[in-house]
Amino acid sequence: MLVTALRYFSRHPVLAFGAVASHPREAVMRLYDVYLDRRERRGVCRYEAVPDWEQRLHRLLGIAFPCAAIQEFTALWHDVVGSMRGRGLRVGPETFLGWNDGDPGLVRAIWCLVRHLRPSRVIETGVAHGFTSRFILEALERNGEGHLWSIDLPPLDPVLGAEVGVAVEQRHPARWSYIRGTSRQRLPRLIAEVGEIDLFVHDSLHSEHNLRFELDRAWAALRPGGAIVVDDMDVNWGFRSFLERFSGHRSLVCEAEPLSPDLRRFNGKGLFGIIVKDPPASQAEPQPGLC
Ligand SMILES: C[S@@+](CC[C@H](N)C(=O)[O-])C[C@H]1O[C@@H](n2cnc3c(N)ncnc32)[C@H](O)[C@@H]1O
Ligand SMILES: [Zn+2]
Repeated sequence: MLVTALRYFSRHPVLAFGAVASHPREAVMRLYDVYLDRRERRGVCRYEAVPDWEQRLHRLLGIAFPCAAIQEFTALWHDVVGSMRGRGLRVGPETFLGWNDGDPGLVRAIWCLVRHLRPSRVIETGVAHGFTSRFILEALERNGEGHLWSIDLPPLDPVLGAEVGVAVEQRHPARWSYIRGTSRQRLPRLIAEVGEIDLFVHDSLHSEHNLRFELDRAWAALRPGGAIVVDDMDVNWGFRSFLERFSGHRSLVCEAEPLSPDLRRFNGKGLFGIIVKDPPASQAEPQPGLC
């Protein structure tokens, strides 16, 4: 960890000193996360996506497929991507300091979860350009209810920092709380304040340690019938170990779809996972076609 810190200080002295001076506790958390992340030495974890995940998701939610919400999503997706590009911003994989914007499949699944589950309280981790944030907020607005809390550790570079949440375009401010910091710092207190949640989206630091930290806490606050979405689940084994620990709930492994064929993900895949928390009585009755 000390080596990581010294290396960063020597490469970016102004940014590093600024970060320590303005947010000392957060600076320590950043380093600790980098240390844990490197220690895991992650590769591609071989999860297999189900090809008809979208039909299965709707069956799981008890909604006929295809649904009207998908048409709404498609129109909005083209608007948001067009608006980002019109403002000279790059969209897609690794366009935010090596981080990926939410892929269309992931964001469409989240859109459907919000439109069909009609959550009151949604928490996500990881904002970057804000694709997932924008679509969650827009879907809540169409539902006429609900609030989103987004925990996010912005980059130290102020130029890139100005791009955080650009896809949101400052829409629906009354529905959105942006919380700066690491999920390890912020999530426990946020959950204590918000209470029961209906939907949780993990899209922050994809180390197994961090994923399990978030999932274990979100799960305790998630209402039965609520859902969890995990982006980039195939870069660690946290999704599997979580399902082993909290067994008996229905889950799906889904393929995120690239934005376009030439914009494929770093590992060629880009999988995300969905878990629906079943009420205790139905845990013993898995539905056909679902894990
Ligand atoms: C994959 S991007 C999020 C993409 C976004 N959901 C979207 O759809 O456009 C991950 C974001 O999480 C932030 N991040 C990294 N480590 C974090 C941590 N420990 N806690 C919270 N956010 C973190 C990164 O700075 C980055 O902005
Ligand atoms: Zn739908």
